[in-house]
Amino acid sequence: MSAPKKREGFSSGVAVFFATLGSAVGLGNIWKFPTMTGTNGGGAFVMLYLLCVLFVGIPVMICEFYVGRRTHSNAIGAFKKLNAPAWSVIGYFGVASSLLIMFFYSCVAGWVYYYFVKAATGQFVGITLEAAKAQFGSAVTGTLSPLIWQWIVLAVVGTVLIMGVRNGIERVTKTLMPLLFILILICDIRSVTLPHSGTGLYFLFHVDFSKITPAVILAALGLAFFKLSLGMGIMVTYGSYFTDDNHLFQTAGRVAVTDTIISLLAGIAIFPAVFSFGMEPSAGPGLLFMTIPLVFSKMPMGMVLLAAFFLLTCFCATTAMISLVEVPTAWLSEEWGLKRPTAVVLVCLFIAAVGATASLSVDSSSLLGQVKVFGKSFFDLYDYLSSNLLMPIGGLLLTLFVGYINKKQDVLYELSNHGLLKNDSTVNYFWLVTRYLTPALLIIIFLNCIGVIHV
Ligand code: PHE
Repeated sequence: MSAPKKREGFSSGVAVFFATLGSAVGLGNIWKFPTMTGTNGGGAFVMLYLLCVLFVGIPVMICEFYVGRRTHSNAIGAFKKLNAPAWSVIGYFGVASSLLIMFFYSCVAGWVYYYFVKAATGQFVGITLEAAKAQFGSAVTGTLSPLIWQWIVLAVVGTVLIMGVRNGIERVTKTLMPLLFILILICDIRSVTLPHSGTGLYFLFHVDFSKITPAVILAALGLAFFKLSLGMGIMVTYGSYFTDDNHLFQTAGRVAVTDTIISLLAGIAIFPAVFSFGMEPSAGPGLLFMTIPLVFSKMPMGMVLLAAFFLLTCFCATTAMISLVEVPTAWLSEEWGLKRPTAVVLVCLFIAAVGATASLSVDSSSLLGQVKVFGKSFFDLYDYLSSNLLMPIGGLLLTLFVGYINKKQDVLYELSNHGLLKNDSTVNYFWLVTRYLTPALLIIIFLNCIGVIHV
């Protein structure tokens, strides 16, 4: 193992906020949240999702920050430093899920990059619904083109990571997040002023309790983990770069709330338009790639705004991927002594190799489209395994670790910034939630979903 070098970290509280938000905000908000809301019945799913964020997401995020900042170590090394090497299994789960996610995430990010180039060259001018569907089909079913775009994405992510924590991650996220927010707002205004937009808003916010099933609850839980980048060591790794005076409760609360607002704004940009153009809300992964071009196609300056929208989606997909690649990178460089650039290149090459199976299995007419593992395509399998299994299990283990293996005094000491914050009652409340409520919810949702119990 290499001699310990001085570790880089984020420079300030603002940098911490934007970097963490940069990991949370991504394709999950703009692509996955609307798609899953559409296929899981609308408002009921949104309500379950919000509950999962509040009672599971935020506590798990604070647990991750705690482990990371207390040890200033990567997701696997952290548990060794806490004298609990067996628990580094949580970190290994994290490395596995970040790779699984990258396999399909880099593929979707490739489509976004491709759509940006198409939009910037005016290829969506005056597009119709049929043409939008055909464009999307040809973008994803080819063999070479989706792969090349996936590789371009990986090259961009790798370059930022090689630049390091401050010059790379911090600088990029601080500039891009505010811009994204403004562009989504413009989309919202356009979408809600379309004819019949009320139906879309009703779909998004009306809670129909009959739509709630165990599978929908598990999907909402999985999305909360995916959205907030939890259960996979990212927030442990980022937490390890936090400054010692950072207020961990505030950071977690602000990131979760801002991220949720961006998801809801993306839903408001998409669903009114979906209904206005007579599309199906349950159209699946193509929702973003068909509706957004349609929303912009008939408005003044629409093409400029469309290009800007996809550019920003590229940015937020990129900042989320940066955090995904950072987990195995920090592990390889700190635990195995590899130089940072070597670690980044190895991880990206591995993702490119295995991620090709995701890119080539998106549609039934793709090269690997007919291959099914456990009844799922490679693309869906990577998504299901990471969001619905590994991330929630990683989160459960982490809450058990923090709540039962750790000493309460240590948690109090770290979360009060070594006694400076005088926030004992908040920490006590957090302690109860982490020890009892969050793990109990996670276990009940699992057992319910696999049919052992029925709630
Ligand atoms: N949270 C990111 C998004 O919503 C994706 C992500 C998942 C990033 C897991 C890191 C870890 O797009």
